[in-house]
Amino acid sequence: MLFSLRTITIIVFVIYCVLTCYTGYLLLKNSNHVKDGVQYTHRKLSLPDDSEDWNPWGEEFEREKSLYMVQKVSPIKVLTNQSLDVKKQFSKHIKDASQSFESTYLVEIWGKAAIGLYVWEHILGGKLESKMDGIWNYGFKRIDNLKLKFRTGPGVITTKAPSDVQNLILILNGRSDDKVSFAKMWLDFLPQFRNLRFVILVVLGNEQCHNEWLIPYMSKSGGLVNKSFIVYDSPLVDNFDFFQWPLGVATYRGFPKVDPKKLDLENSRPYICNFLGSIYPHSSREKLMNIIQSNNLTQFCFIKARYEWQPKETKQTLSAYIQSLHLSDLTLSPVGMNSECYRIYEAMAFGSVPVVEDIMTPGICGDSKVLSAPAPLRLLKHYNAPIIYIKDWSQLPDLISQELRMPLQDKIKRRLKIVEWYENFKIHLRENLLSVLKENIHRKER
Ligand SMILES: *[C@@H]1O[C@H](CO)[C@@H](O)[C@H](O)[C@H]1NC(C)=O
Ligand SMILES: *[C@@H]1O[C@H](CO)[C@@H](O)[C@H](O)[C@H]1NC(C)=O
Ligand SMILES: *[C@@H]1O[C@H](CO)[C@@H](O)[C@H](O)[C@H]1NC(C)=O
Repeated sequence: MLFSLRTITIIVFVIYCVLTCYTGYLLLKNSNHVKDGVQYTHRKLSLPDDSEDWNPWGEEFEREKSLYMVQKVSPIKVLTNQSLDVKKQFSKHIKDASQSFESTYLVEIWGKAAIGLYVWEHILGGKLESKMDGIWNYGFKRIDNLKLKFRTGPGVITTKAPSDVQNLILILNGRSDDKVSFAKMWLDFLPQFRNLRFVILVVLGNEQCHNEWLIPYMSKSGGLVNKSFIVYDSPLVDNFDFFQWPLGVATYRGFPKVDPKKLDLENSRPYICNFLGSIYPHSSREKLMNIIQSNNLTQFCFIKARYEWQPKETKQTLSAYIQSLHLSDLTLSPVGMNSECYRIYEAMAFGSVPVVEDIMTPGICGDSKVLSAPAPLRLLKHYNAPIIYIKDWSQLPDLISQELRMPLQDKIKRRLKIVEWYENFKIHLRENLLSVLKENIHRKER
């Protein structure tokens, strides 16, 4: 009797223990689940240390095929509402400009480079509808007296494009020789469109600024392209025939369009800085890594470096990258092939202040007579982007110790400022592009 009571007590105790452990396990499992998910969290990030699925960021390489496969899911959760009334501020101006025109004009926009999505979705604020599994993508947007029709995808080919096009914005890639041959194929086809009146070319320029190939296509040289917008500090830019265009964010790897109202800009961020990228031997990135390591900056910053090229792209690494921008006060941006990197715009979109290496890269990029600011990054400097320039990474430890002393309120102010500046910058670019369009279509009528 006594023996069996003892047995029962032991059994009950064992069951109790098992249940407690199981509950604990469930709790742990759930919290891990949230941590690995894409939801916004204030906790520090953990990336698997095996570099299997790691992909270098900040590679300014276009991989256009992936463009049509990447799912565009914004991993940002709404936490606070921000009052960024940039749009209101500008809409008055936009309306004023429209009153001088009466008739409406159809403008075709054909995106044959990944930067086309930045133009359409981020700058013009257009939407996209996918047909036949992304072979064709369409968008339509009316802005004032302009009816904008955007087409992109592998199905958009010269012979299938609407032949009665009159006003055209053609978006091409001129980054490398093979891309230039493809771009030329489109430009050489333009004379087939008999009704063409006005053509704007938006082109991803060469990182060394060798864009001479497009001069013969300009109308001043007898070609059909009236105006060009070029990425990088091209010496061609004169704000008459050639305008400068920003690199923008890497839409080709699925970088989302960020709604500033959905960002958490008012809480302290667990990291002072982040750098996720690949390290080339004998580059300034290598020096940056040495400085980070020898000053033990990894205790303040989220650093993930890779020393080999890895083309693989996963949703998880994109999400980790985005989280690291959202969780850091600063984003380190060493130069790549050019000083202008997608990372600069991507950081600003998330309210992380880019710390940009302010040095010229090899090539013929340089100053422009019409932009007041000196190269590199003259467009950002011209519009007074509130970013931090650094001439040499040896200044980084001082910068980090300044950050450690900076009150949260100041960081929040700075964060709001960078997000607001970036929103205004995009609106400004849009107005600039549209005004070049309107002025010329209008002139044609007179
Ligand atoms: C945030 O904005 C949404 C919609 O504009 C509103 O429903 C919600 O109550 C707001 N939340 C806060 C905390 O102000
Ligand atoms: C655009 O260029 C074409 C070809 O040079 C020219 O005929 C046309 O008048 C130009 N349009 C405008 C608005 O300048
Ligand atoms: C970095 O950490 C190591 C080990 O903790 C220490 O020996 C070294 O002095 C530290 N360096 C600096 C610059 O703080």
